[in-house]
This record gives sequence, structure tokens and C-alpha cells, in this order.
Amino acid sequence: MTEKIFVDNLLSGRVALVTGGGTGITAGVARALAGAGARVVLVSRKMEHLEPAAEVIRRDGGDALPFAADVRSFEDVERAVAATVAHYGKLDIVVNGAAGNFLCPAEELSANGFGTVVDIDLKGTFNVCRAAFGELKRGGGSILNISATLQLLGTPLQLHASAAKAGVDALTRNLAVEWGGHGIRTNAIAPGPIEDTEGIKRLLPEPLKEKLRRRIPVGRFGRVADVAHLAVFLCSDAASFVNGAVIVVDGGHWLNANRLLSPEG
Ligand code: COA
Repeated sequence: MTEKIFVDNLLSGRVALVTGGGTGITAGVARALAGAGARVVLVSRKMEHLEPAAEVIRRDGGDALPFAADVRSFEDVERAVAATVAHYGKLDIVVNGAAGNFLCPAEELSANGFGTVVDIDLKGTFNVCRAAFGELKRGGGSILNISATLQLLGTPLQLHASAAKAGVDALTRNLAVEWGGHGIRTNAIAPGPIEDTEGIKRLLPEPLKEKLRRRIPVGRFGRVADVAHLAVFLCSDAASFVNGAVIVVDGGHWLNANRLLSPEG
């Protein structure tokens, strides 16, 4: 990340576990946390995604540990938390970014397809929060869930992901209330269309890209840094009274829904 937004070492001394931290938006979040001084553990299924991401962080002077685990497995997640504590001595920040998605009409979606996405996005988020609870409450921790904007309206071909992310939003608010008293803040970021991510490349057909861009009020796609900056803020003491927030980062896109009168006509 080239732009310098925050004071140096804002998260120095903190240890963060970032699921989905090998690729996409969450890899950018992991780099930003490391750039702010946190030591990060990158967790996802595939070591071949994690090693290069960890290497980028180390090259920039940060400290990163890759750990292969499937968030759908509570035992895997418990091992990831244990490895974090064994390697870095503690755990302060959890970022739940691991997600799976594909486009599929509801009437063609299999029960297993629906369940697979809910298991990764929602149950995976629960698994990590639950496994990390003991460590997070030790020092006053922070949970950051990566949500979406799909579920705010009815999004065709995205029933499974919308249901999962609606659950992530609910989990965020519930944990904020239940665990706030343990000194753990739980928040979420809901990114809209972010350029150069798998979501845009794989899920959005090329001809629709320009059409979508025109519907984003600020006139551009988001950047990974737009999400990462907010992530650093939410995980820092600057946000010590922010708990249970689901913050949309989409340039105003979801509000510009399909109404009768829209700015672009
Ligand atoms: N359309 C419809 N159903 C699909 C599908 C698609 N494109 N992709 C997967 N499914 C269904 C499968 O058919 C299967 O259901 P079935 O047993 O009834 O046939 C179920 O989902 C599980 O699929 P499988 O491939 O065995 O699961 P997996 O755990 O290996 O991977 C995903 C599931 C969702 C993670 C897979 O789509 C994937 O690897 N995606 C790339 C990573 C990604 O999505 N990143 C996030 C980008 S926003």
C-alpha cells in the first residue's frame, strides 16, 4: 500500500488472524494490518495462496505466518488459533474474510451448493469467532467480518451468498452485544464492487462492467485500499467505541437501486 493514511505503528504489538488472507480483498486487509505494525497469520485452504501473500508482507518489512485450514472445520480453526498463540504468544484481532461464491439461479441451486456457501461464509465466521473467543477476551480484542451488499436488496443468482452474508451481519450484531462486555468489539465491512478482485473478474460478465460502473455514484469501482483503510481503523483503538457496525464501502452503489428516476436515466 503506497498511500500513507495513518500514523506509524498504529497496530504495533497486535497479532491478527486473517481468514481468506491469501487472495483478494482480505489479502489487502492483511497487508494493511501488517503495514500498520500487526503480526499476521494468514489462513485459508490452500498453502499455494498463502505462501506468496506472506512473502509480500515480509518483503515489505512485516511479519506473517501462513497456516492452511478450512474454516468449515472447527478442529482446523482451533489448530489455526493454537498455532497463532504458539508462534506469536497471543491473538488480538480476527478478520473473517474467507468466502466462496458462484452465480446460480435459485431453482437450479442444489441443497449442497447452498449449504457449501453458507458453511464457508457464515459457519466459518462463527467457527473462527468461537475458537478465538478465549484469546480475544484476554487482552480486549477486535473481530472484523467481511460482509457484502448483495443481501441488502434481492440480488439475482446470489441467493446462497446473500443468505450467508445476511447471517454474517446478524452474527456481527449479536456478538457485539454478547461479547462487548468481554472487551471484544465486533464490526463488519460490506464492500461493494471492488476492482481487480475475483468477485468482479469471475462473477461479473465483461459487458456488464461498464454498466455497473455507471451505477456507482462516485463514478469508479472501489479499490482494495478503500476497504483496507477502514479495516485498519476498525481494528485500532481509534474505533474503541465502534461495536456492532456494518459499514458499507461501495461509493453509494447499493443506494442507487433500480428506481424510476435514476441519475443516469
Ligand atoms: N453453480 C452451481 N453449483 C455449484 C457451483 C456453480 N458454479 N460451484 C459449486 N457448486 C455446488 C456443487 O455443485 C456442489 O453441490 P452438489 O454436490 O449438489 O453438486 C456444491 O456446490 C459444493 O461444490 P464443491 O466444488 O464440491 O465445493 P468446494 O468446497 O470444493 O468449493 C466453492 C465450493 C463455493 C468455494 C467453489 O465455488 C470455489 O472454489 N470457488 C472459488 C473461490 C471463491 O468462490 N472465492 C470467492 C470469490 S467472491
